[in-house]
Amino acid sequence: MSSFQTSFFGFFISQLCVGQLRAQLGTTPNIKHIVVGRCYNYITLVNPSLRIDCEEIWRRFEESVVFRSSFNATVDYSQMFDAIPQTWPCNTCLFWSKTRNLMHSYAAVERHFWTLEDTLVGFMFNDLVWCGQEKHSGFGFSSCPPWAASTHHPVYSLWRHASQNFAEMACGNITVLLNGSISNAFNRESMFGSVELDGLDPCRVDYVNIKVVTNLEGPFTESCSKGSIADLIQVLRSRGFRWTCTHNDETLMILQCVQNPEQSSCQRCASGFSHGRDL
Ligand SMILES: *[C@@H]1O[C@H](CO)[C@@H](O)[C@H](O)[C@H]1NC(C)=O
Ligand SMILES: *[C@@H]1O[C@H](CO)[C@@H](O)[C@H](O)[C@H]1NC(C)=O
Ligand SMILES: *[C@@H]1O[C@H](CO)[C@@H](O)[C@H](O)[C@H]1NC(C)=O
Repeated sequence: MSSFQTSFFGFFISQLCVGQLRAQLGTTPNIKHIVVGRCYNYITLVNPSLRIDCEEIWRRFEESVVFRSSFNATVDYSQMFDAIPQTWPCNTCLFWSKTRNLMHSYAAVERHFWTLEDTLVGFMFNDLVWCGQEKHSGFGFSSCPPWAASTHHPVYSLWRHASQNFAEMACGNITVLLNGSISNAFNRESMFGSVELDGLDPCRVDYVNIKVVTNLEGPFTESCSKGSIADLIQVLRSRGFRWTCTHNDETLMILQCVQNPEQSSCQRCASGFSHGRDL
């Protein structure tokens, strides 16, 4: 949720916001064209060095969802993942929890970062919904089980597998962006806390660099030494990771100010600039 994870959740929220709650939350229409199209986009324009067969990936994905042994069984995507031998460079992985919007602007300016959405699987399935049907074969286009109903949800299972892979492959320095304006910034139930953290390998990872970011207007609930982030550091210590933790990272604050320049904590910079102009 790095990852679903939250993209599914984000989708859900946006559906609520536009008042389409009653609209069907079934499989995204045209899902095959979207997934296969995104796959060709990725291997042609985004990452041409990746040699994979997009049609074959779709076939394996569809088989996992549609022909699983029992409707309520967890979908096993390993056949599909086996067909995607993707690795990512060291010192680039960006993990996050409850900081999705800021993560997107951060990754857009710090171009070397890789998030789950930059991997082929993340790129192909971002914001999509899918499920099989209970009594028939094929995708359930009219409705899917609600997100919260089951950890066996086919969308959740895919993001869980993808997040696990992403963490296991991470090497060198990694960065974790956590939200200091909520309690439980490090949440053991989140994709980062329940899947990715356990997937990180202390032999491959040099430093876990934690960045705690609060909303400009607060609340200032957690910091490196306060609340659940102290628990995270404890876990990292006990597993033999080296780590750093910062809050009020300047780049992150500037990005927040760009989106919200009227905030009083952004005025210091602004008055500095106008002073410079006066001279
Ligand atoms: C799947 O689970 C739901 C809710 O627990 C239950 O109502 C349904 O009968 C189950 N379906 C199958 C095929 O086991
Ligand atoms: C922190 O979480 C809250 C609640 O989900 C959200 O409104 C806010 O935008 C998040 N802050 C940052 C900096 O991501
Ligand atoms: C890794 O992180 C540590 C601690 O923040 C830093 O001193 C080092 O320069 C970083 N290395 C790379 C390759 O970014």
